[in-house]
Amino acid sequence: MLSKTIQEALNAQIRMEAESSQAYLAMASWADIQPGLQGVSEFFYKQSDEERVHMLKLIRYVNERGGFGVVPPLLQPIITFQSLKRVFEEFLAHEIKVSESINDLVHMALQEKDYATHNFLQWYVSEQIEEERLARTLNEKLELIGEDKSGLYLFDRDILNYRMQQSAGKSH
Ligand code: FEO
Repeated sequence: MLSKTIQEALNAQIRMEAESSQAYLAMASWADIQPGLQGVSEFFYKQSDEERVHMLKLIRYVNERGGFGVVPPLLQPIITFQSLKRVFEEFLAHEIKVSESINDLVHMALQEKDYATHNFLQWYVSEQIEEERLARTLNEKLELIGEDKSGLYLFDRDILNYRMQQSAGKSH
């Protein structure tokens, strides 16, 4: 049985994953209507789906442990971006926030001696290492490319491969 504190914290994380899914869906839709960003758009559609999976896993876990996984209301995320660089900066900043939140949850689970939740959260800990690494790599690449059009063309063409390489290295 989950304690009230843990249940509330897990439900806050459910909300955060839902917000991540919405934020990345908005990035996907924005990229979808920009010329030449089909790869980036697909990348964020996929990223949005992944965040929904993160949310679902939490909802199921809370319910399995005798709590109630609350489906949160949806806030409108940022829907337009000044540049591609801004999109990826936002992506990294968001993932860093999620990692901090997961770390706080892990800490709380230990304090409450909830070892089952602590164990459950380890999947998220590993996931966040990968997500942050991916977001950092993509930001570094964009930094190198700058305004170079052929570089951006290759970035858009290759972005799904980065995602796939990352996915290959982890289990769901
Ligand atoms: Fe589920 Fe990317 O945080």
